[in-house]
Amino acid sequence: MTHHQIIGENHMKIKLHRFFQPRSIAVVGASKDSRKIGHAALKNILISEYECNLYPVNPGEESILGLKCYPKITDIPGTVDLVLISVPAAIVPKVMQDCVHKKVHNVIIISSGFREIGNHELEHTIQEIIKKAPDMRVLGPNTMGYKNASDGLDASFVFGMPRQGNLALISQSGALGMGMIYLANNEYVGLSKIIGVGNKLDIDDDDLIDYFRDDPDTKVIGLYIEGVKDGRQFMNSIKACNKPVIVVKAGRSTAGARATASHTGSMAGSDQIYGAAIKQAGGIRCRDVVELFDMARALAGQPPAHGNRIGIITNGGGLGILLTDACEANGLQVPKLSEKTYKKIDEVLPDLITPNNPIDLVADAGFYRYEVATRALLEDPQIDGIIIASVHAGYARPREWAGAILQMIRQRKYHETYKKPILGTWVGGKEFEDLVLDLKTAGVPVYPSSWRTARAMYGLVAEGERIRREMQEEG
Ligand code: ACO
Repeated sequence: MTHHQIIGENHMKIKLHRFFQPRSIAVVGASKDSRKIGHAALKNILISEYECNLYPVNPGEESILGLKCYPKITDIPGTVDLVLISVPAAIVPKVMQDCVHKKVHNVIIISSGFREIGNHELEHTIQEIIKKAPDMRVLGPNTMGYKNASDGLDASFVFGMPRQGNLALISQSGALGMGMIYLANNEYVGLSKIIGVGNKLDIDDDDLIDYFRDDPDTKVIGLYIEGVKDGRQFMNSIKACNKPVIVVKAGRSTAGARATASHTGSMAGSDQIYGAAIKQAGGIRCRDVVELFDMARALAGQPPAHGNRIGIITNGGGLGILLTDACEANGLQVPKLSEKTYKKIDEVLPDLITPNNPIDLVADAGFYRYEVATRALLEDPQIDGIIIASVHAGYARPREWAGAILQMIRQRKYHETYKKPILGTWVGGKEFEDLVLDLKTAGVPVYPSSWRTARAMYGLVAEGERIRREMQEEG
């Protein structure tokens, strides 16, 4: 029986709520030495815009960063909602005992030196302490902590707050989690929260998926995992989640699986079984974190696709074919156009060119051709999603391509039948930079590769399927 089964589901949710929104926080191992992790953790909370009582704990100091310092957790007056521990691993059991005496409900163990280096005994000691405190939830050990961008609280030792948004990220790798913060910023993807789960001694991916299911600030959930503690529970949480869950599962290869064992002490498990189970539970699996952000951008900004029939518009025939191949490789269809749609688009094309799917608007296509073709596809009940591509072919007009995408996204608000996802693809150089930035800041997903676009569209189709299945099950 896992720890959260003992304490019951509702209780768990209330506790994780306080975990992310504590009224008081203590940092054990806080230090005046700015090179130490305990210093960085304290400082990050201090400079957060979040308001709470903050207590450094260090037996050798009177005050740190202007805050009164306490020798032990139990010396702090009043309740402590969250404790961050940053002392060497051997001291952690003693600090955990103090947390139990103080009736602390939420603990983050930043310290490394447990299962990931083969020190199972020490991790077991911590587990025994947690068992005796059924009201306590523990993140880590071997974790960076979390950043709660929705409420402006940085409970990690890593510098930098992500852009605020609606993607929640759960990462088993702290360093990759940190990298993802900057990648998210670069991709104009805002985060609600990002958490490093480390060795997952107690708080596990399924607890967090359950929490984010009810978190009003989260719309999409992304995970980087190396292994899960309780496979059935993990899949149940994905299945019960009414939001898209995107999973990057590392350790696909034999050598990769070996590496996960020494990184976080995880058993990678059979990759095929993972893949099939994630899909069956309604999750979306992707290969790497860039793909995760590609999908997250699409899922956060676009409606899900009601089916898998994709219309492709391009000014370059080759790019259209590549997109078609990539769509088909991902289980999407690129059907022939209906008679009605054919006629609408044929009217705006130069003589001798006939519209197909992919629809080649020819290299010099401007705003008007893109707009008419996109509108025709939006009005076509046999098309579920649209990709609008531009190649900078000398006399092409990329600015008009971007303008047409923005225009059609705006138009979609006023027509019920237009509620289909629109993604952009581009192939070109610097002349696209400003345009891509304009589109990304407006929340429009555009990608510099046919494969990435098709994968993002696959994510929207998978989400549409998940919603349909959910509705069928609800009857
Ligand atoms: N209570 C409170 N403070 C204490 C106690 C105690 N019982 N005992 C010692 N301290 C103080 C120390 O005196 C020190 O303060 P000082 O600078 O004023 O002397 C402070 O706590 C820290 O103790 P140190 O022995 O100096 O330990 P240090 O800070 O060097 O390392 C740490 C501790 C960071 C936890 C280290 O052991 C560790 O695990 N590092 C790795 C952390 C990590 O990477 N985690 C995974 C993150 S995820 C990722 O991949 C990025």
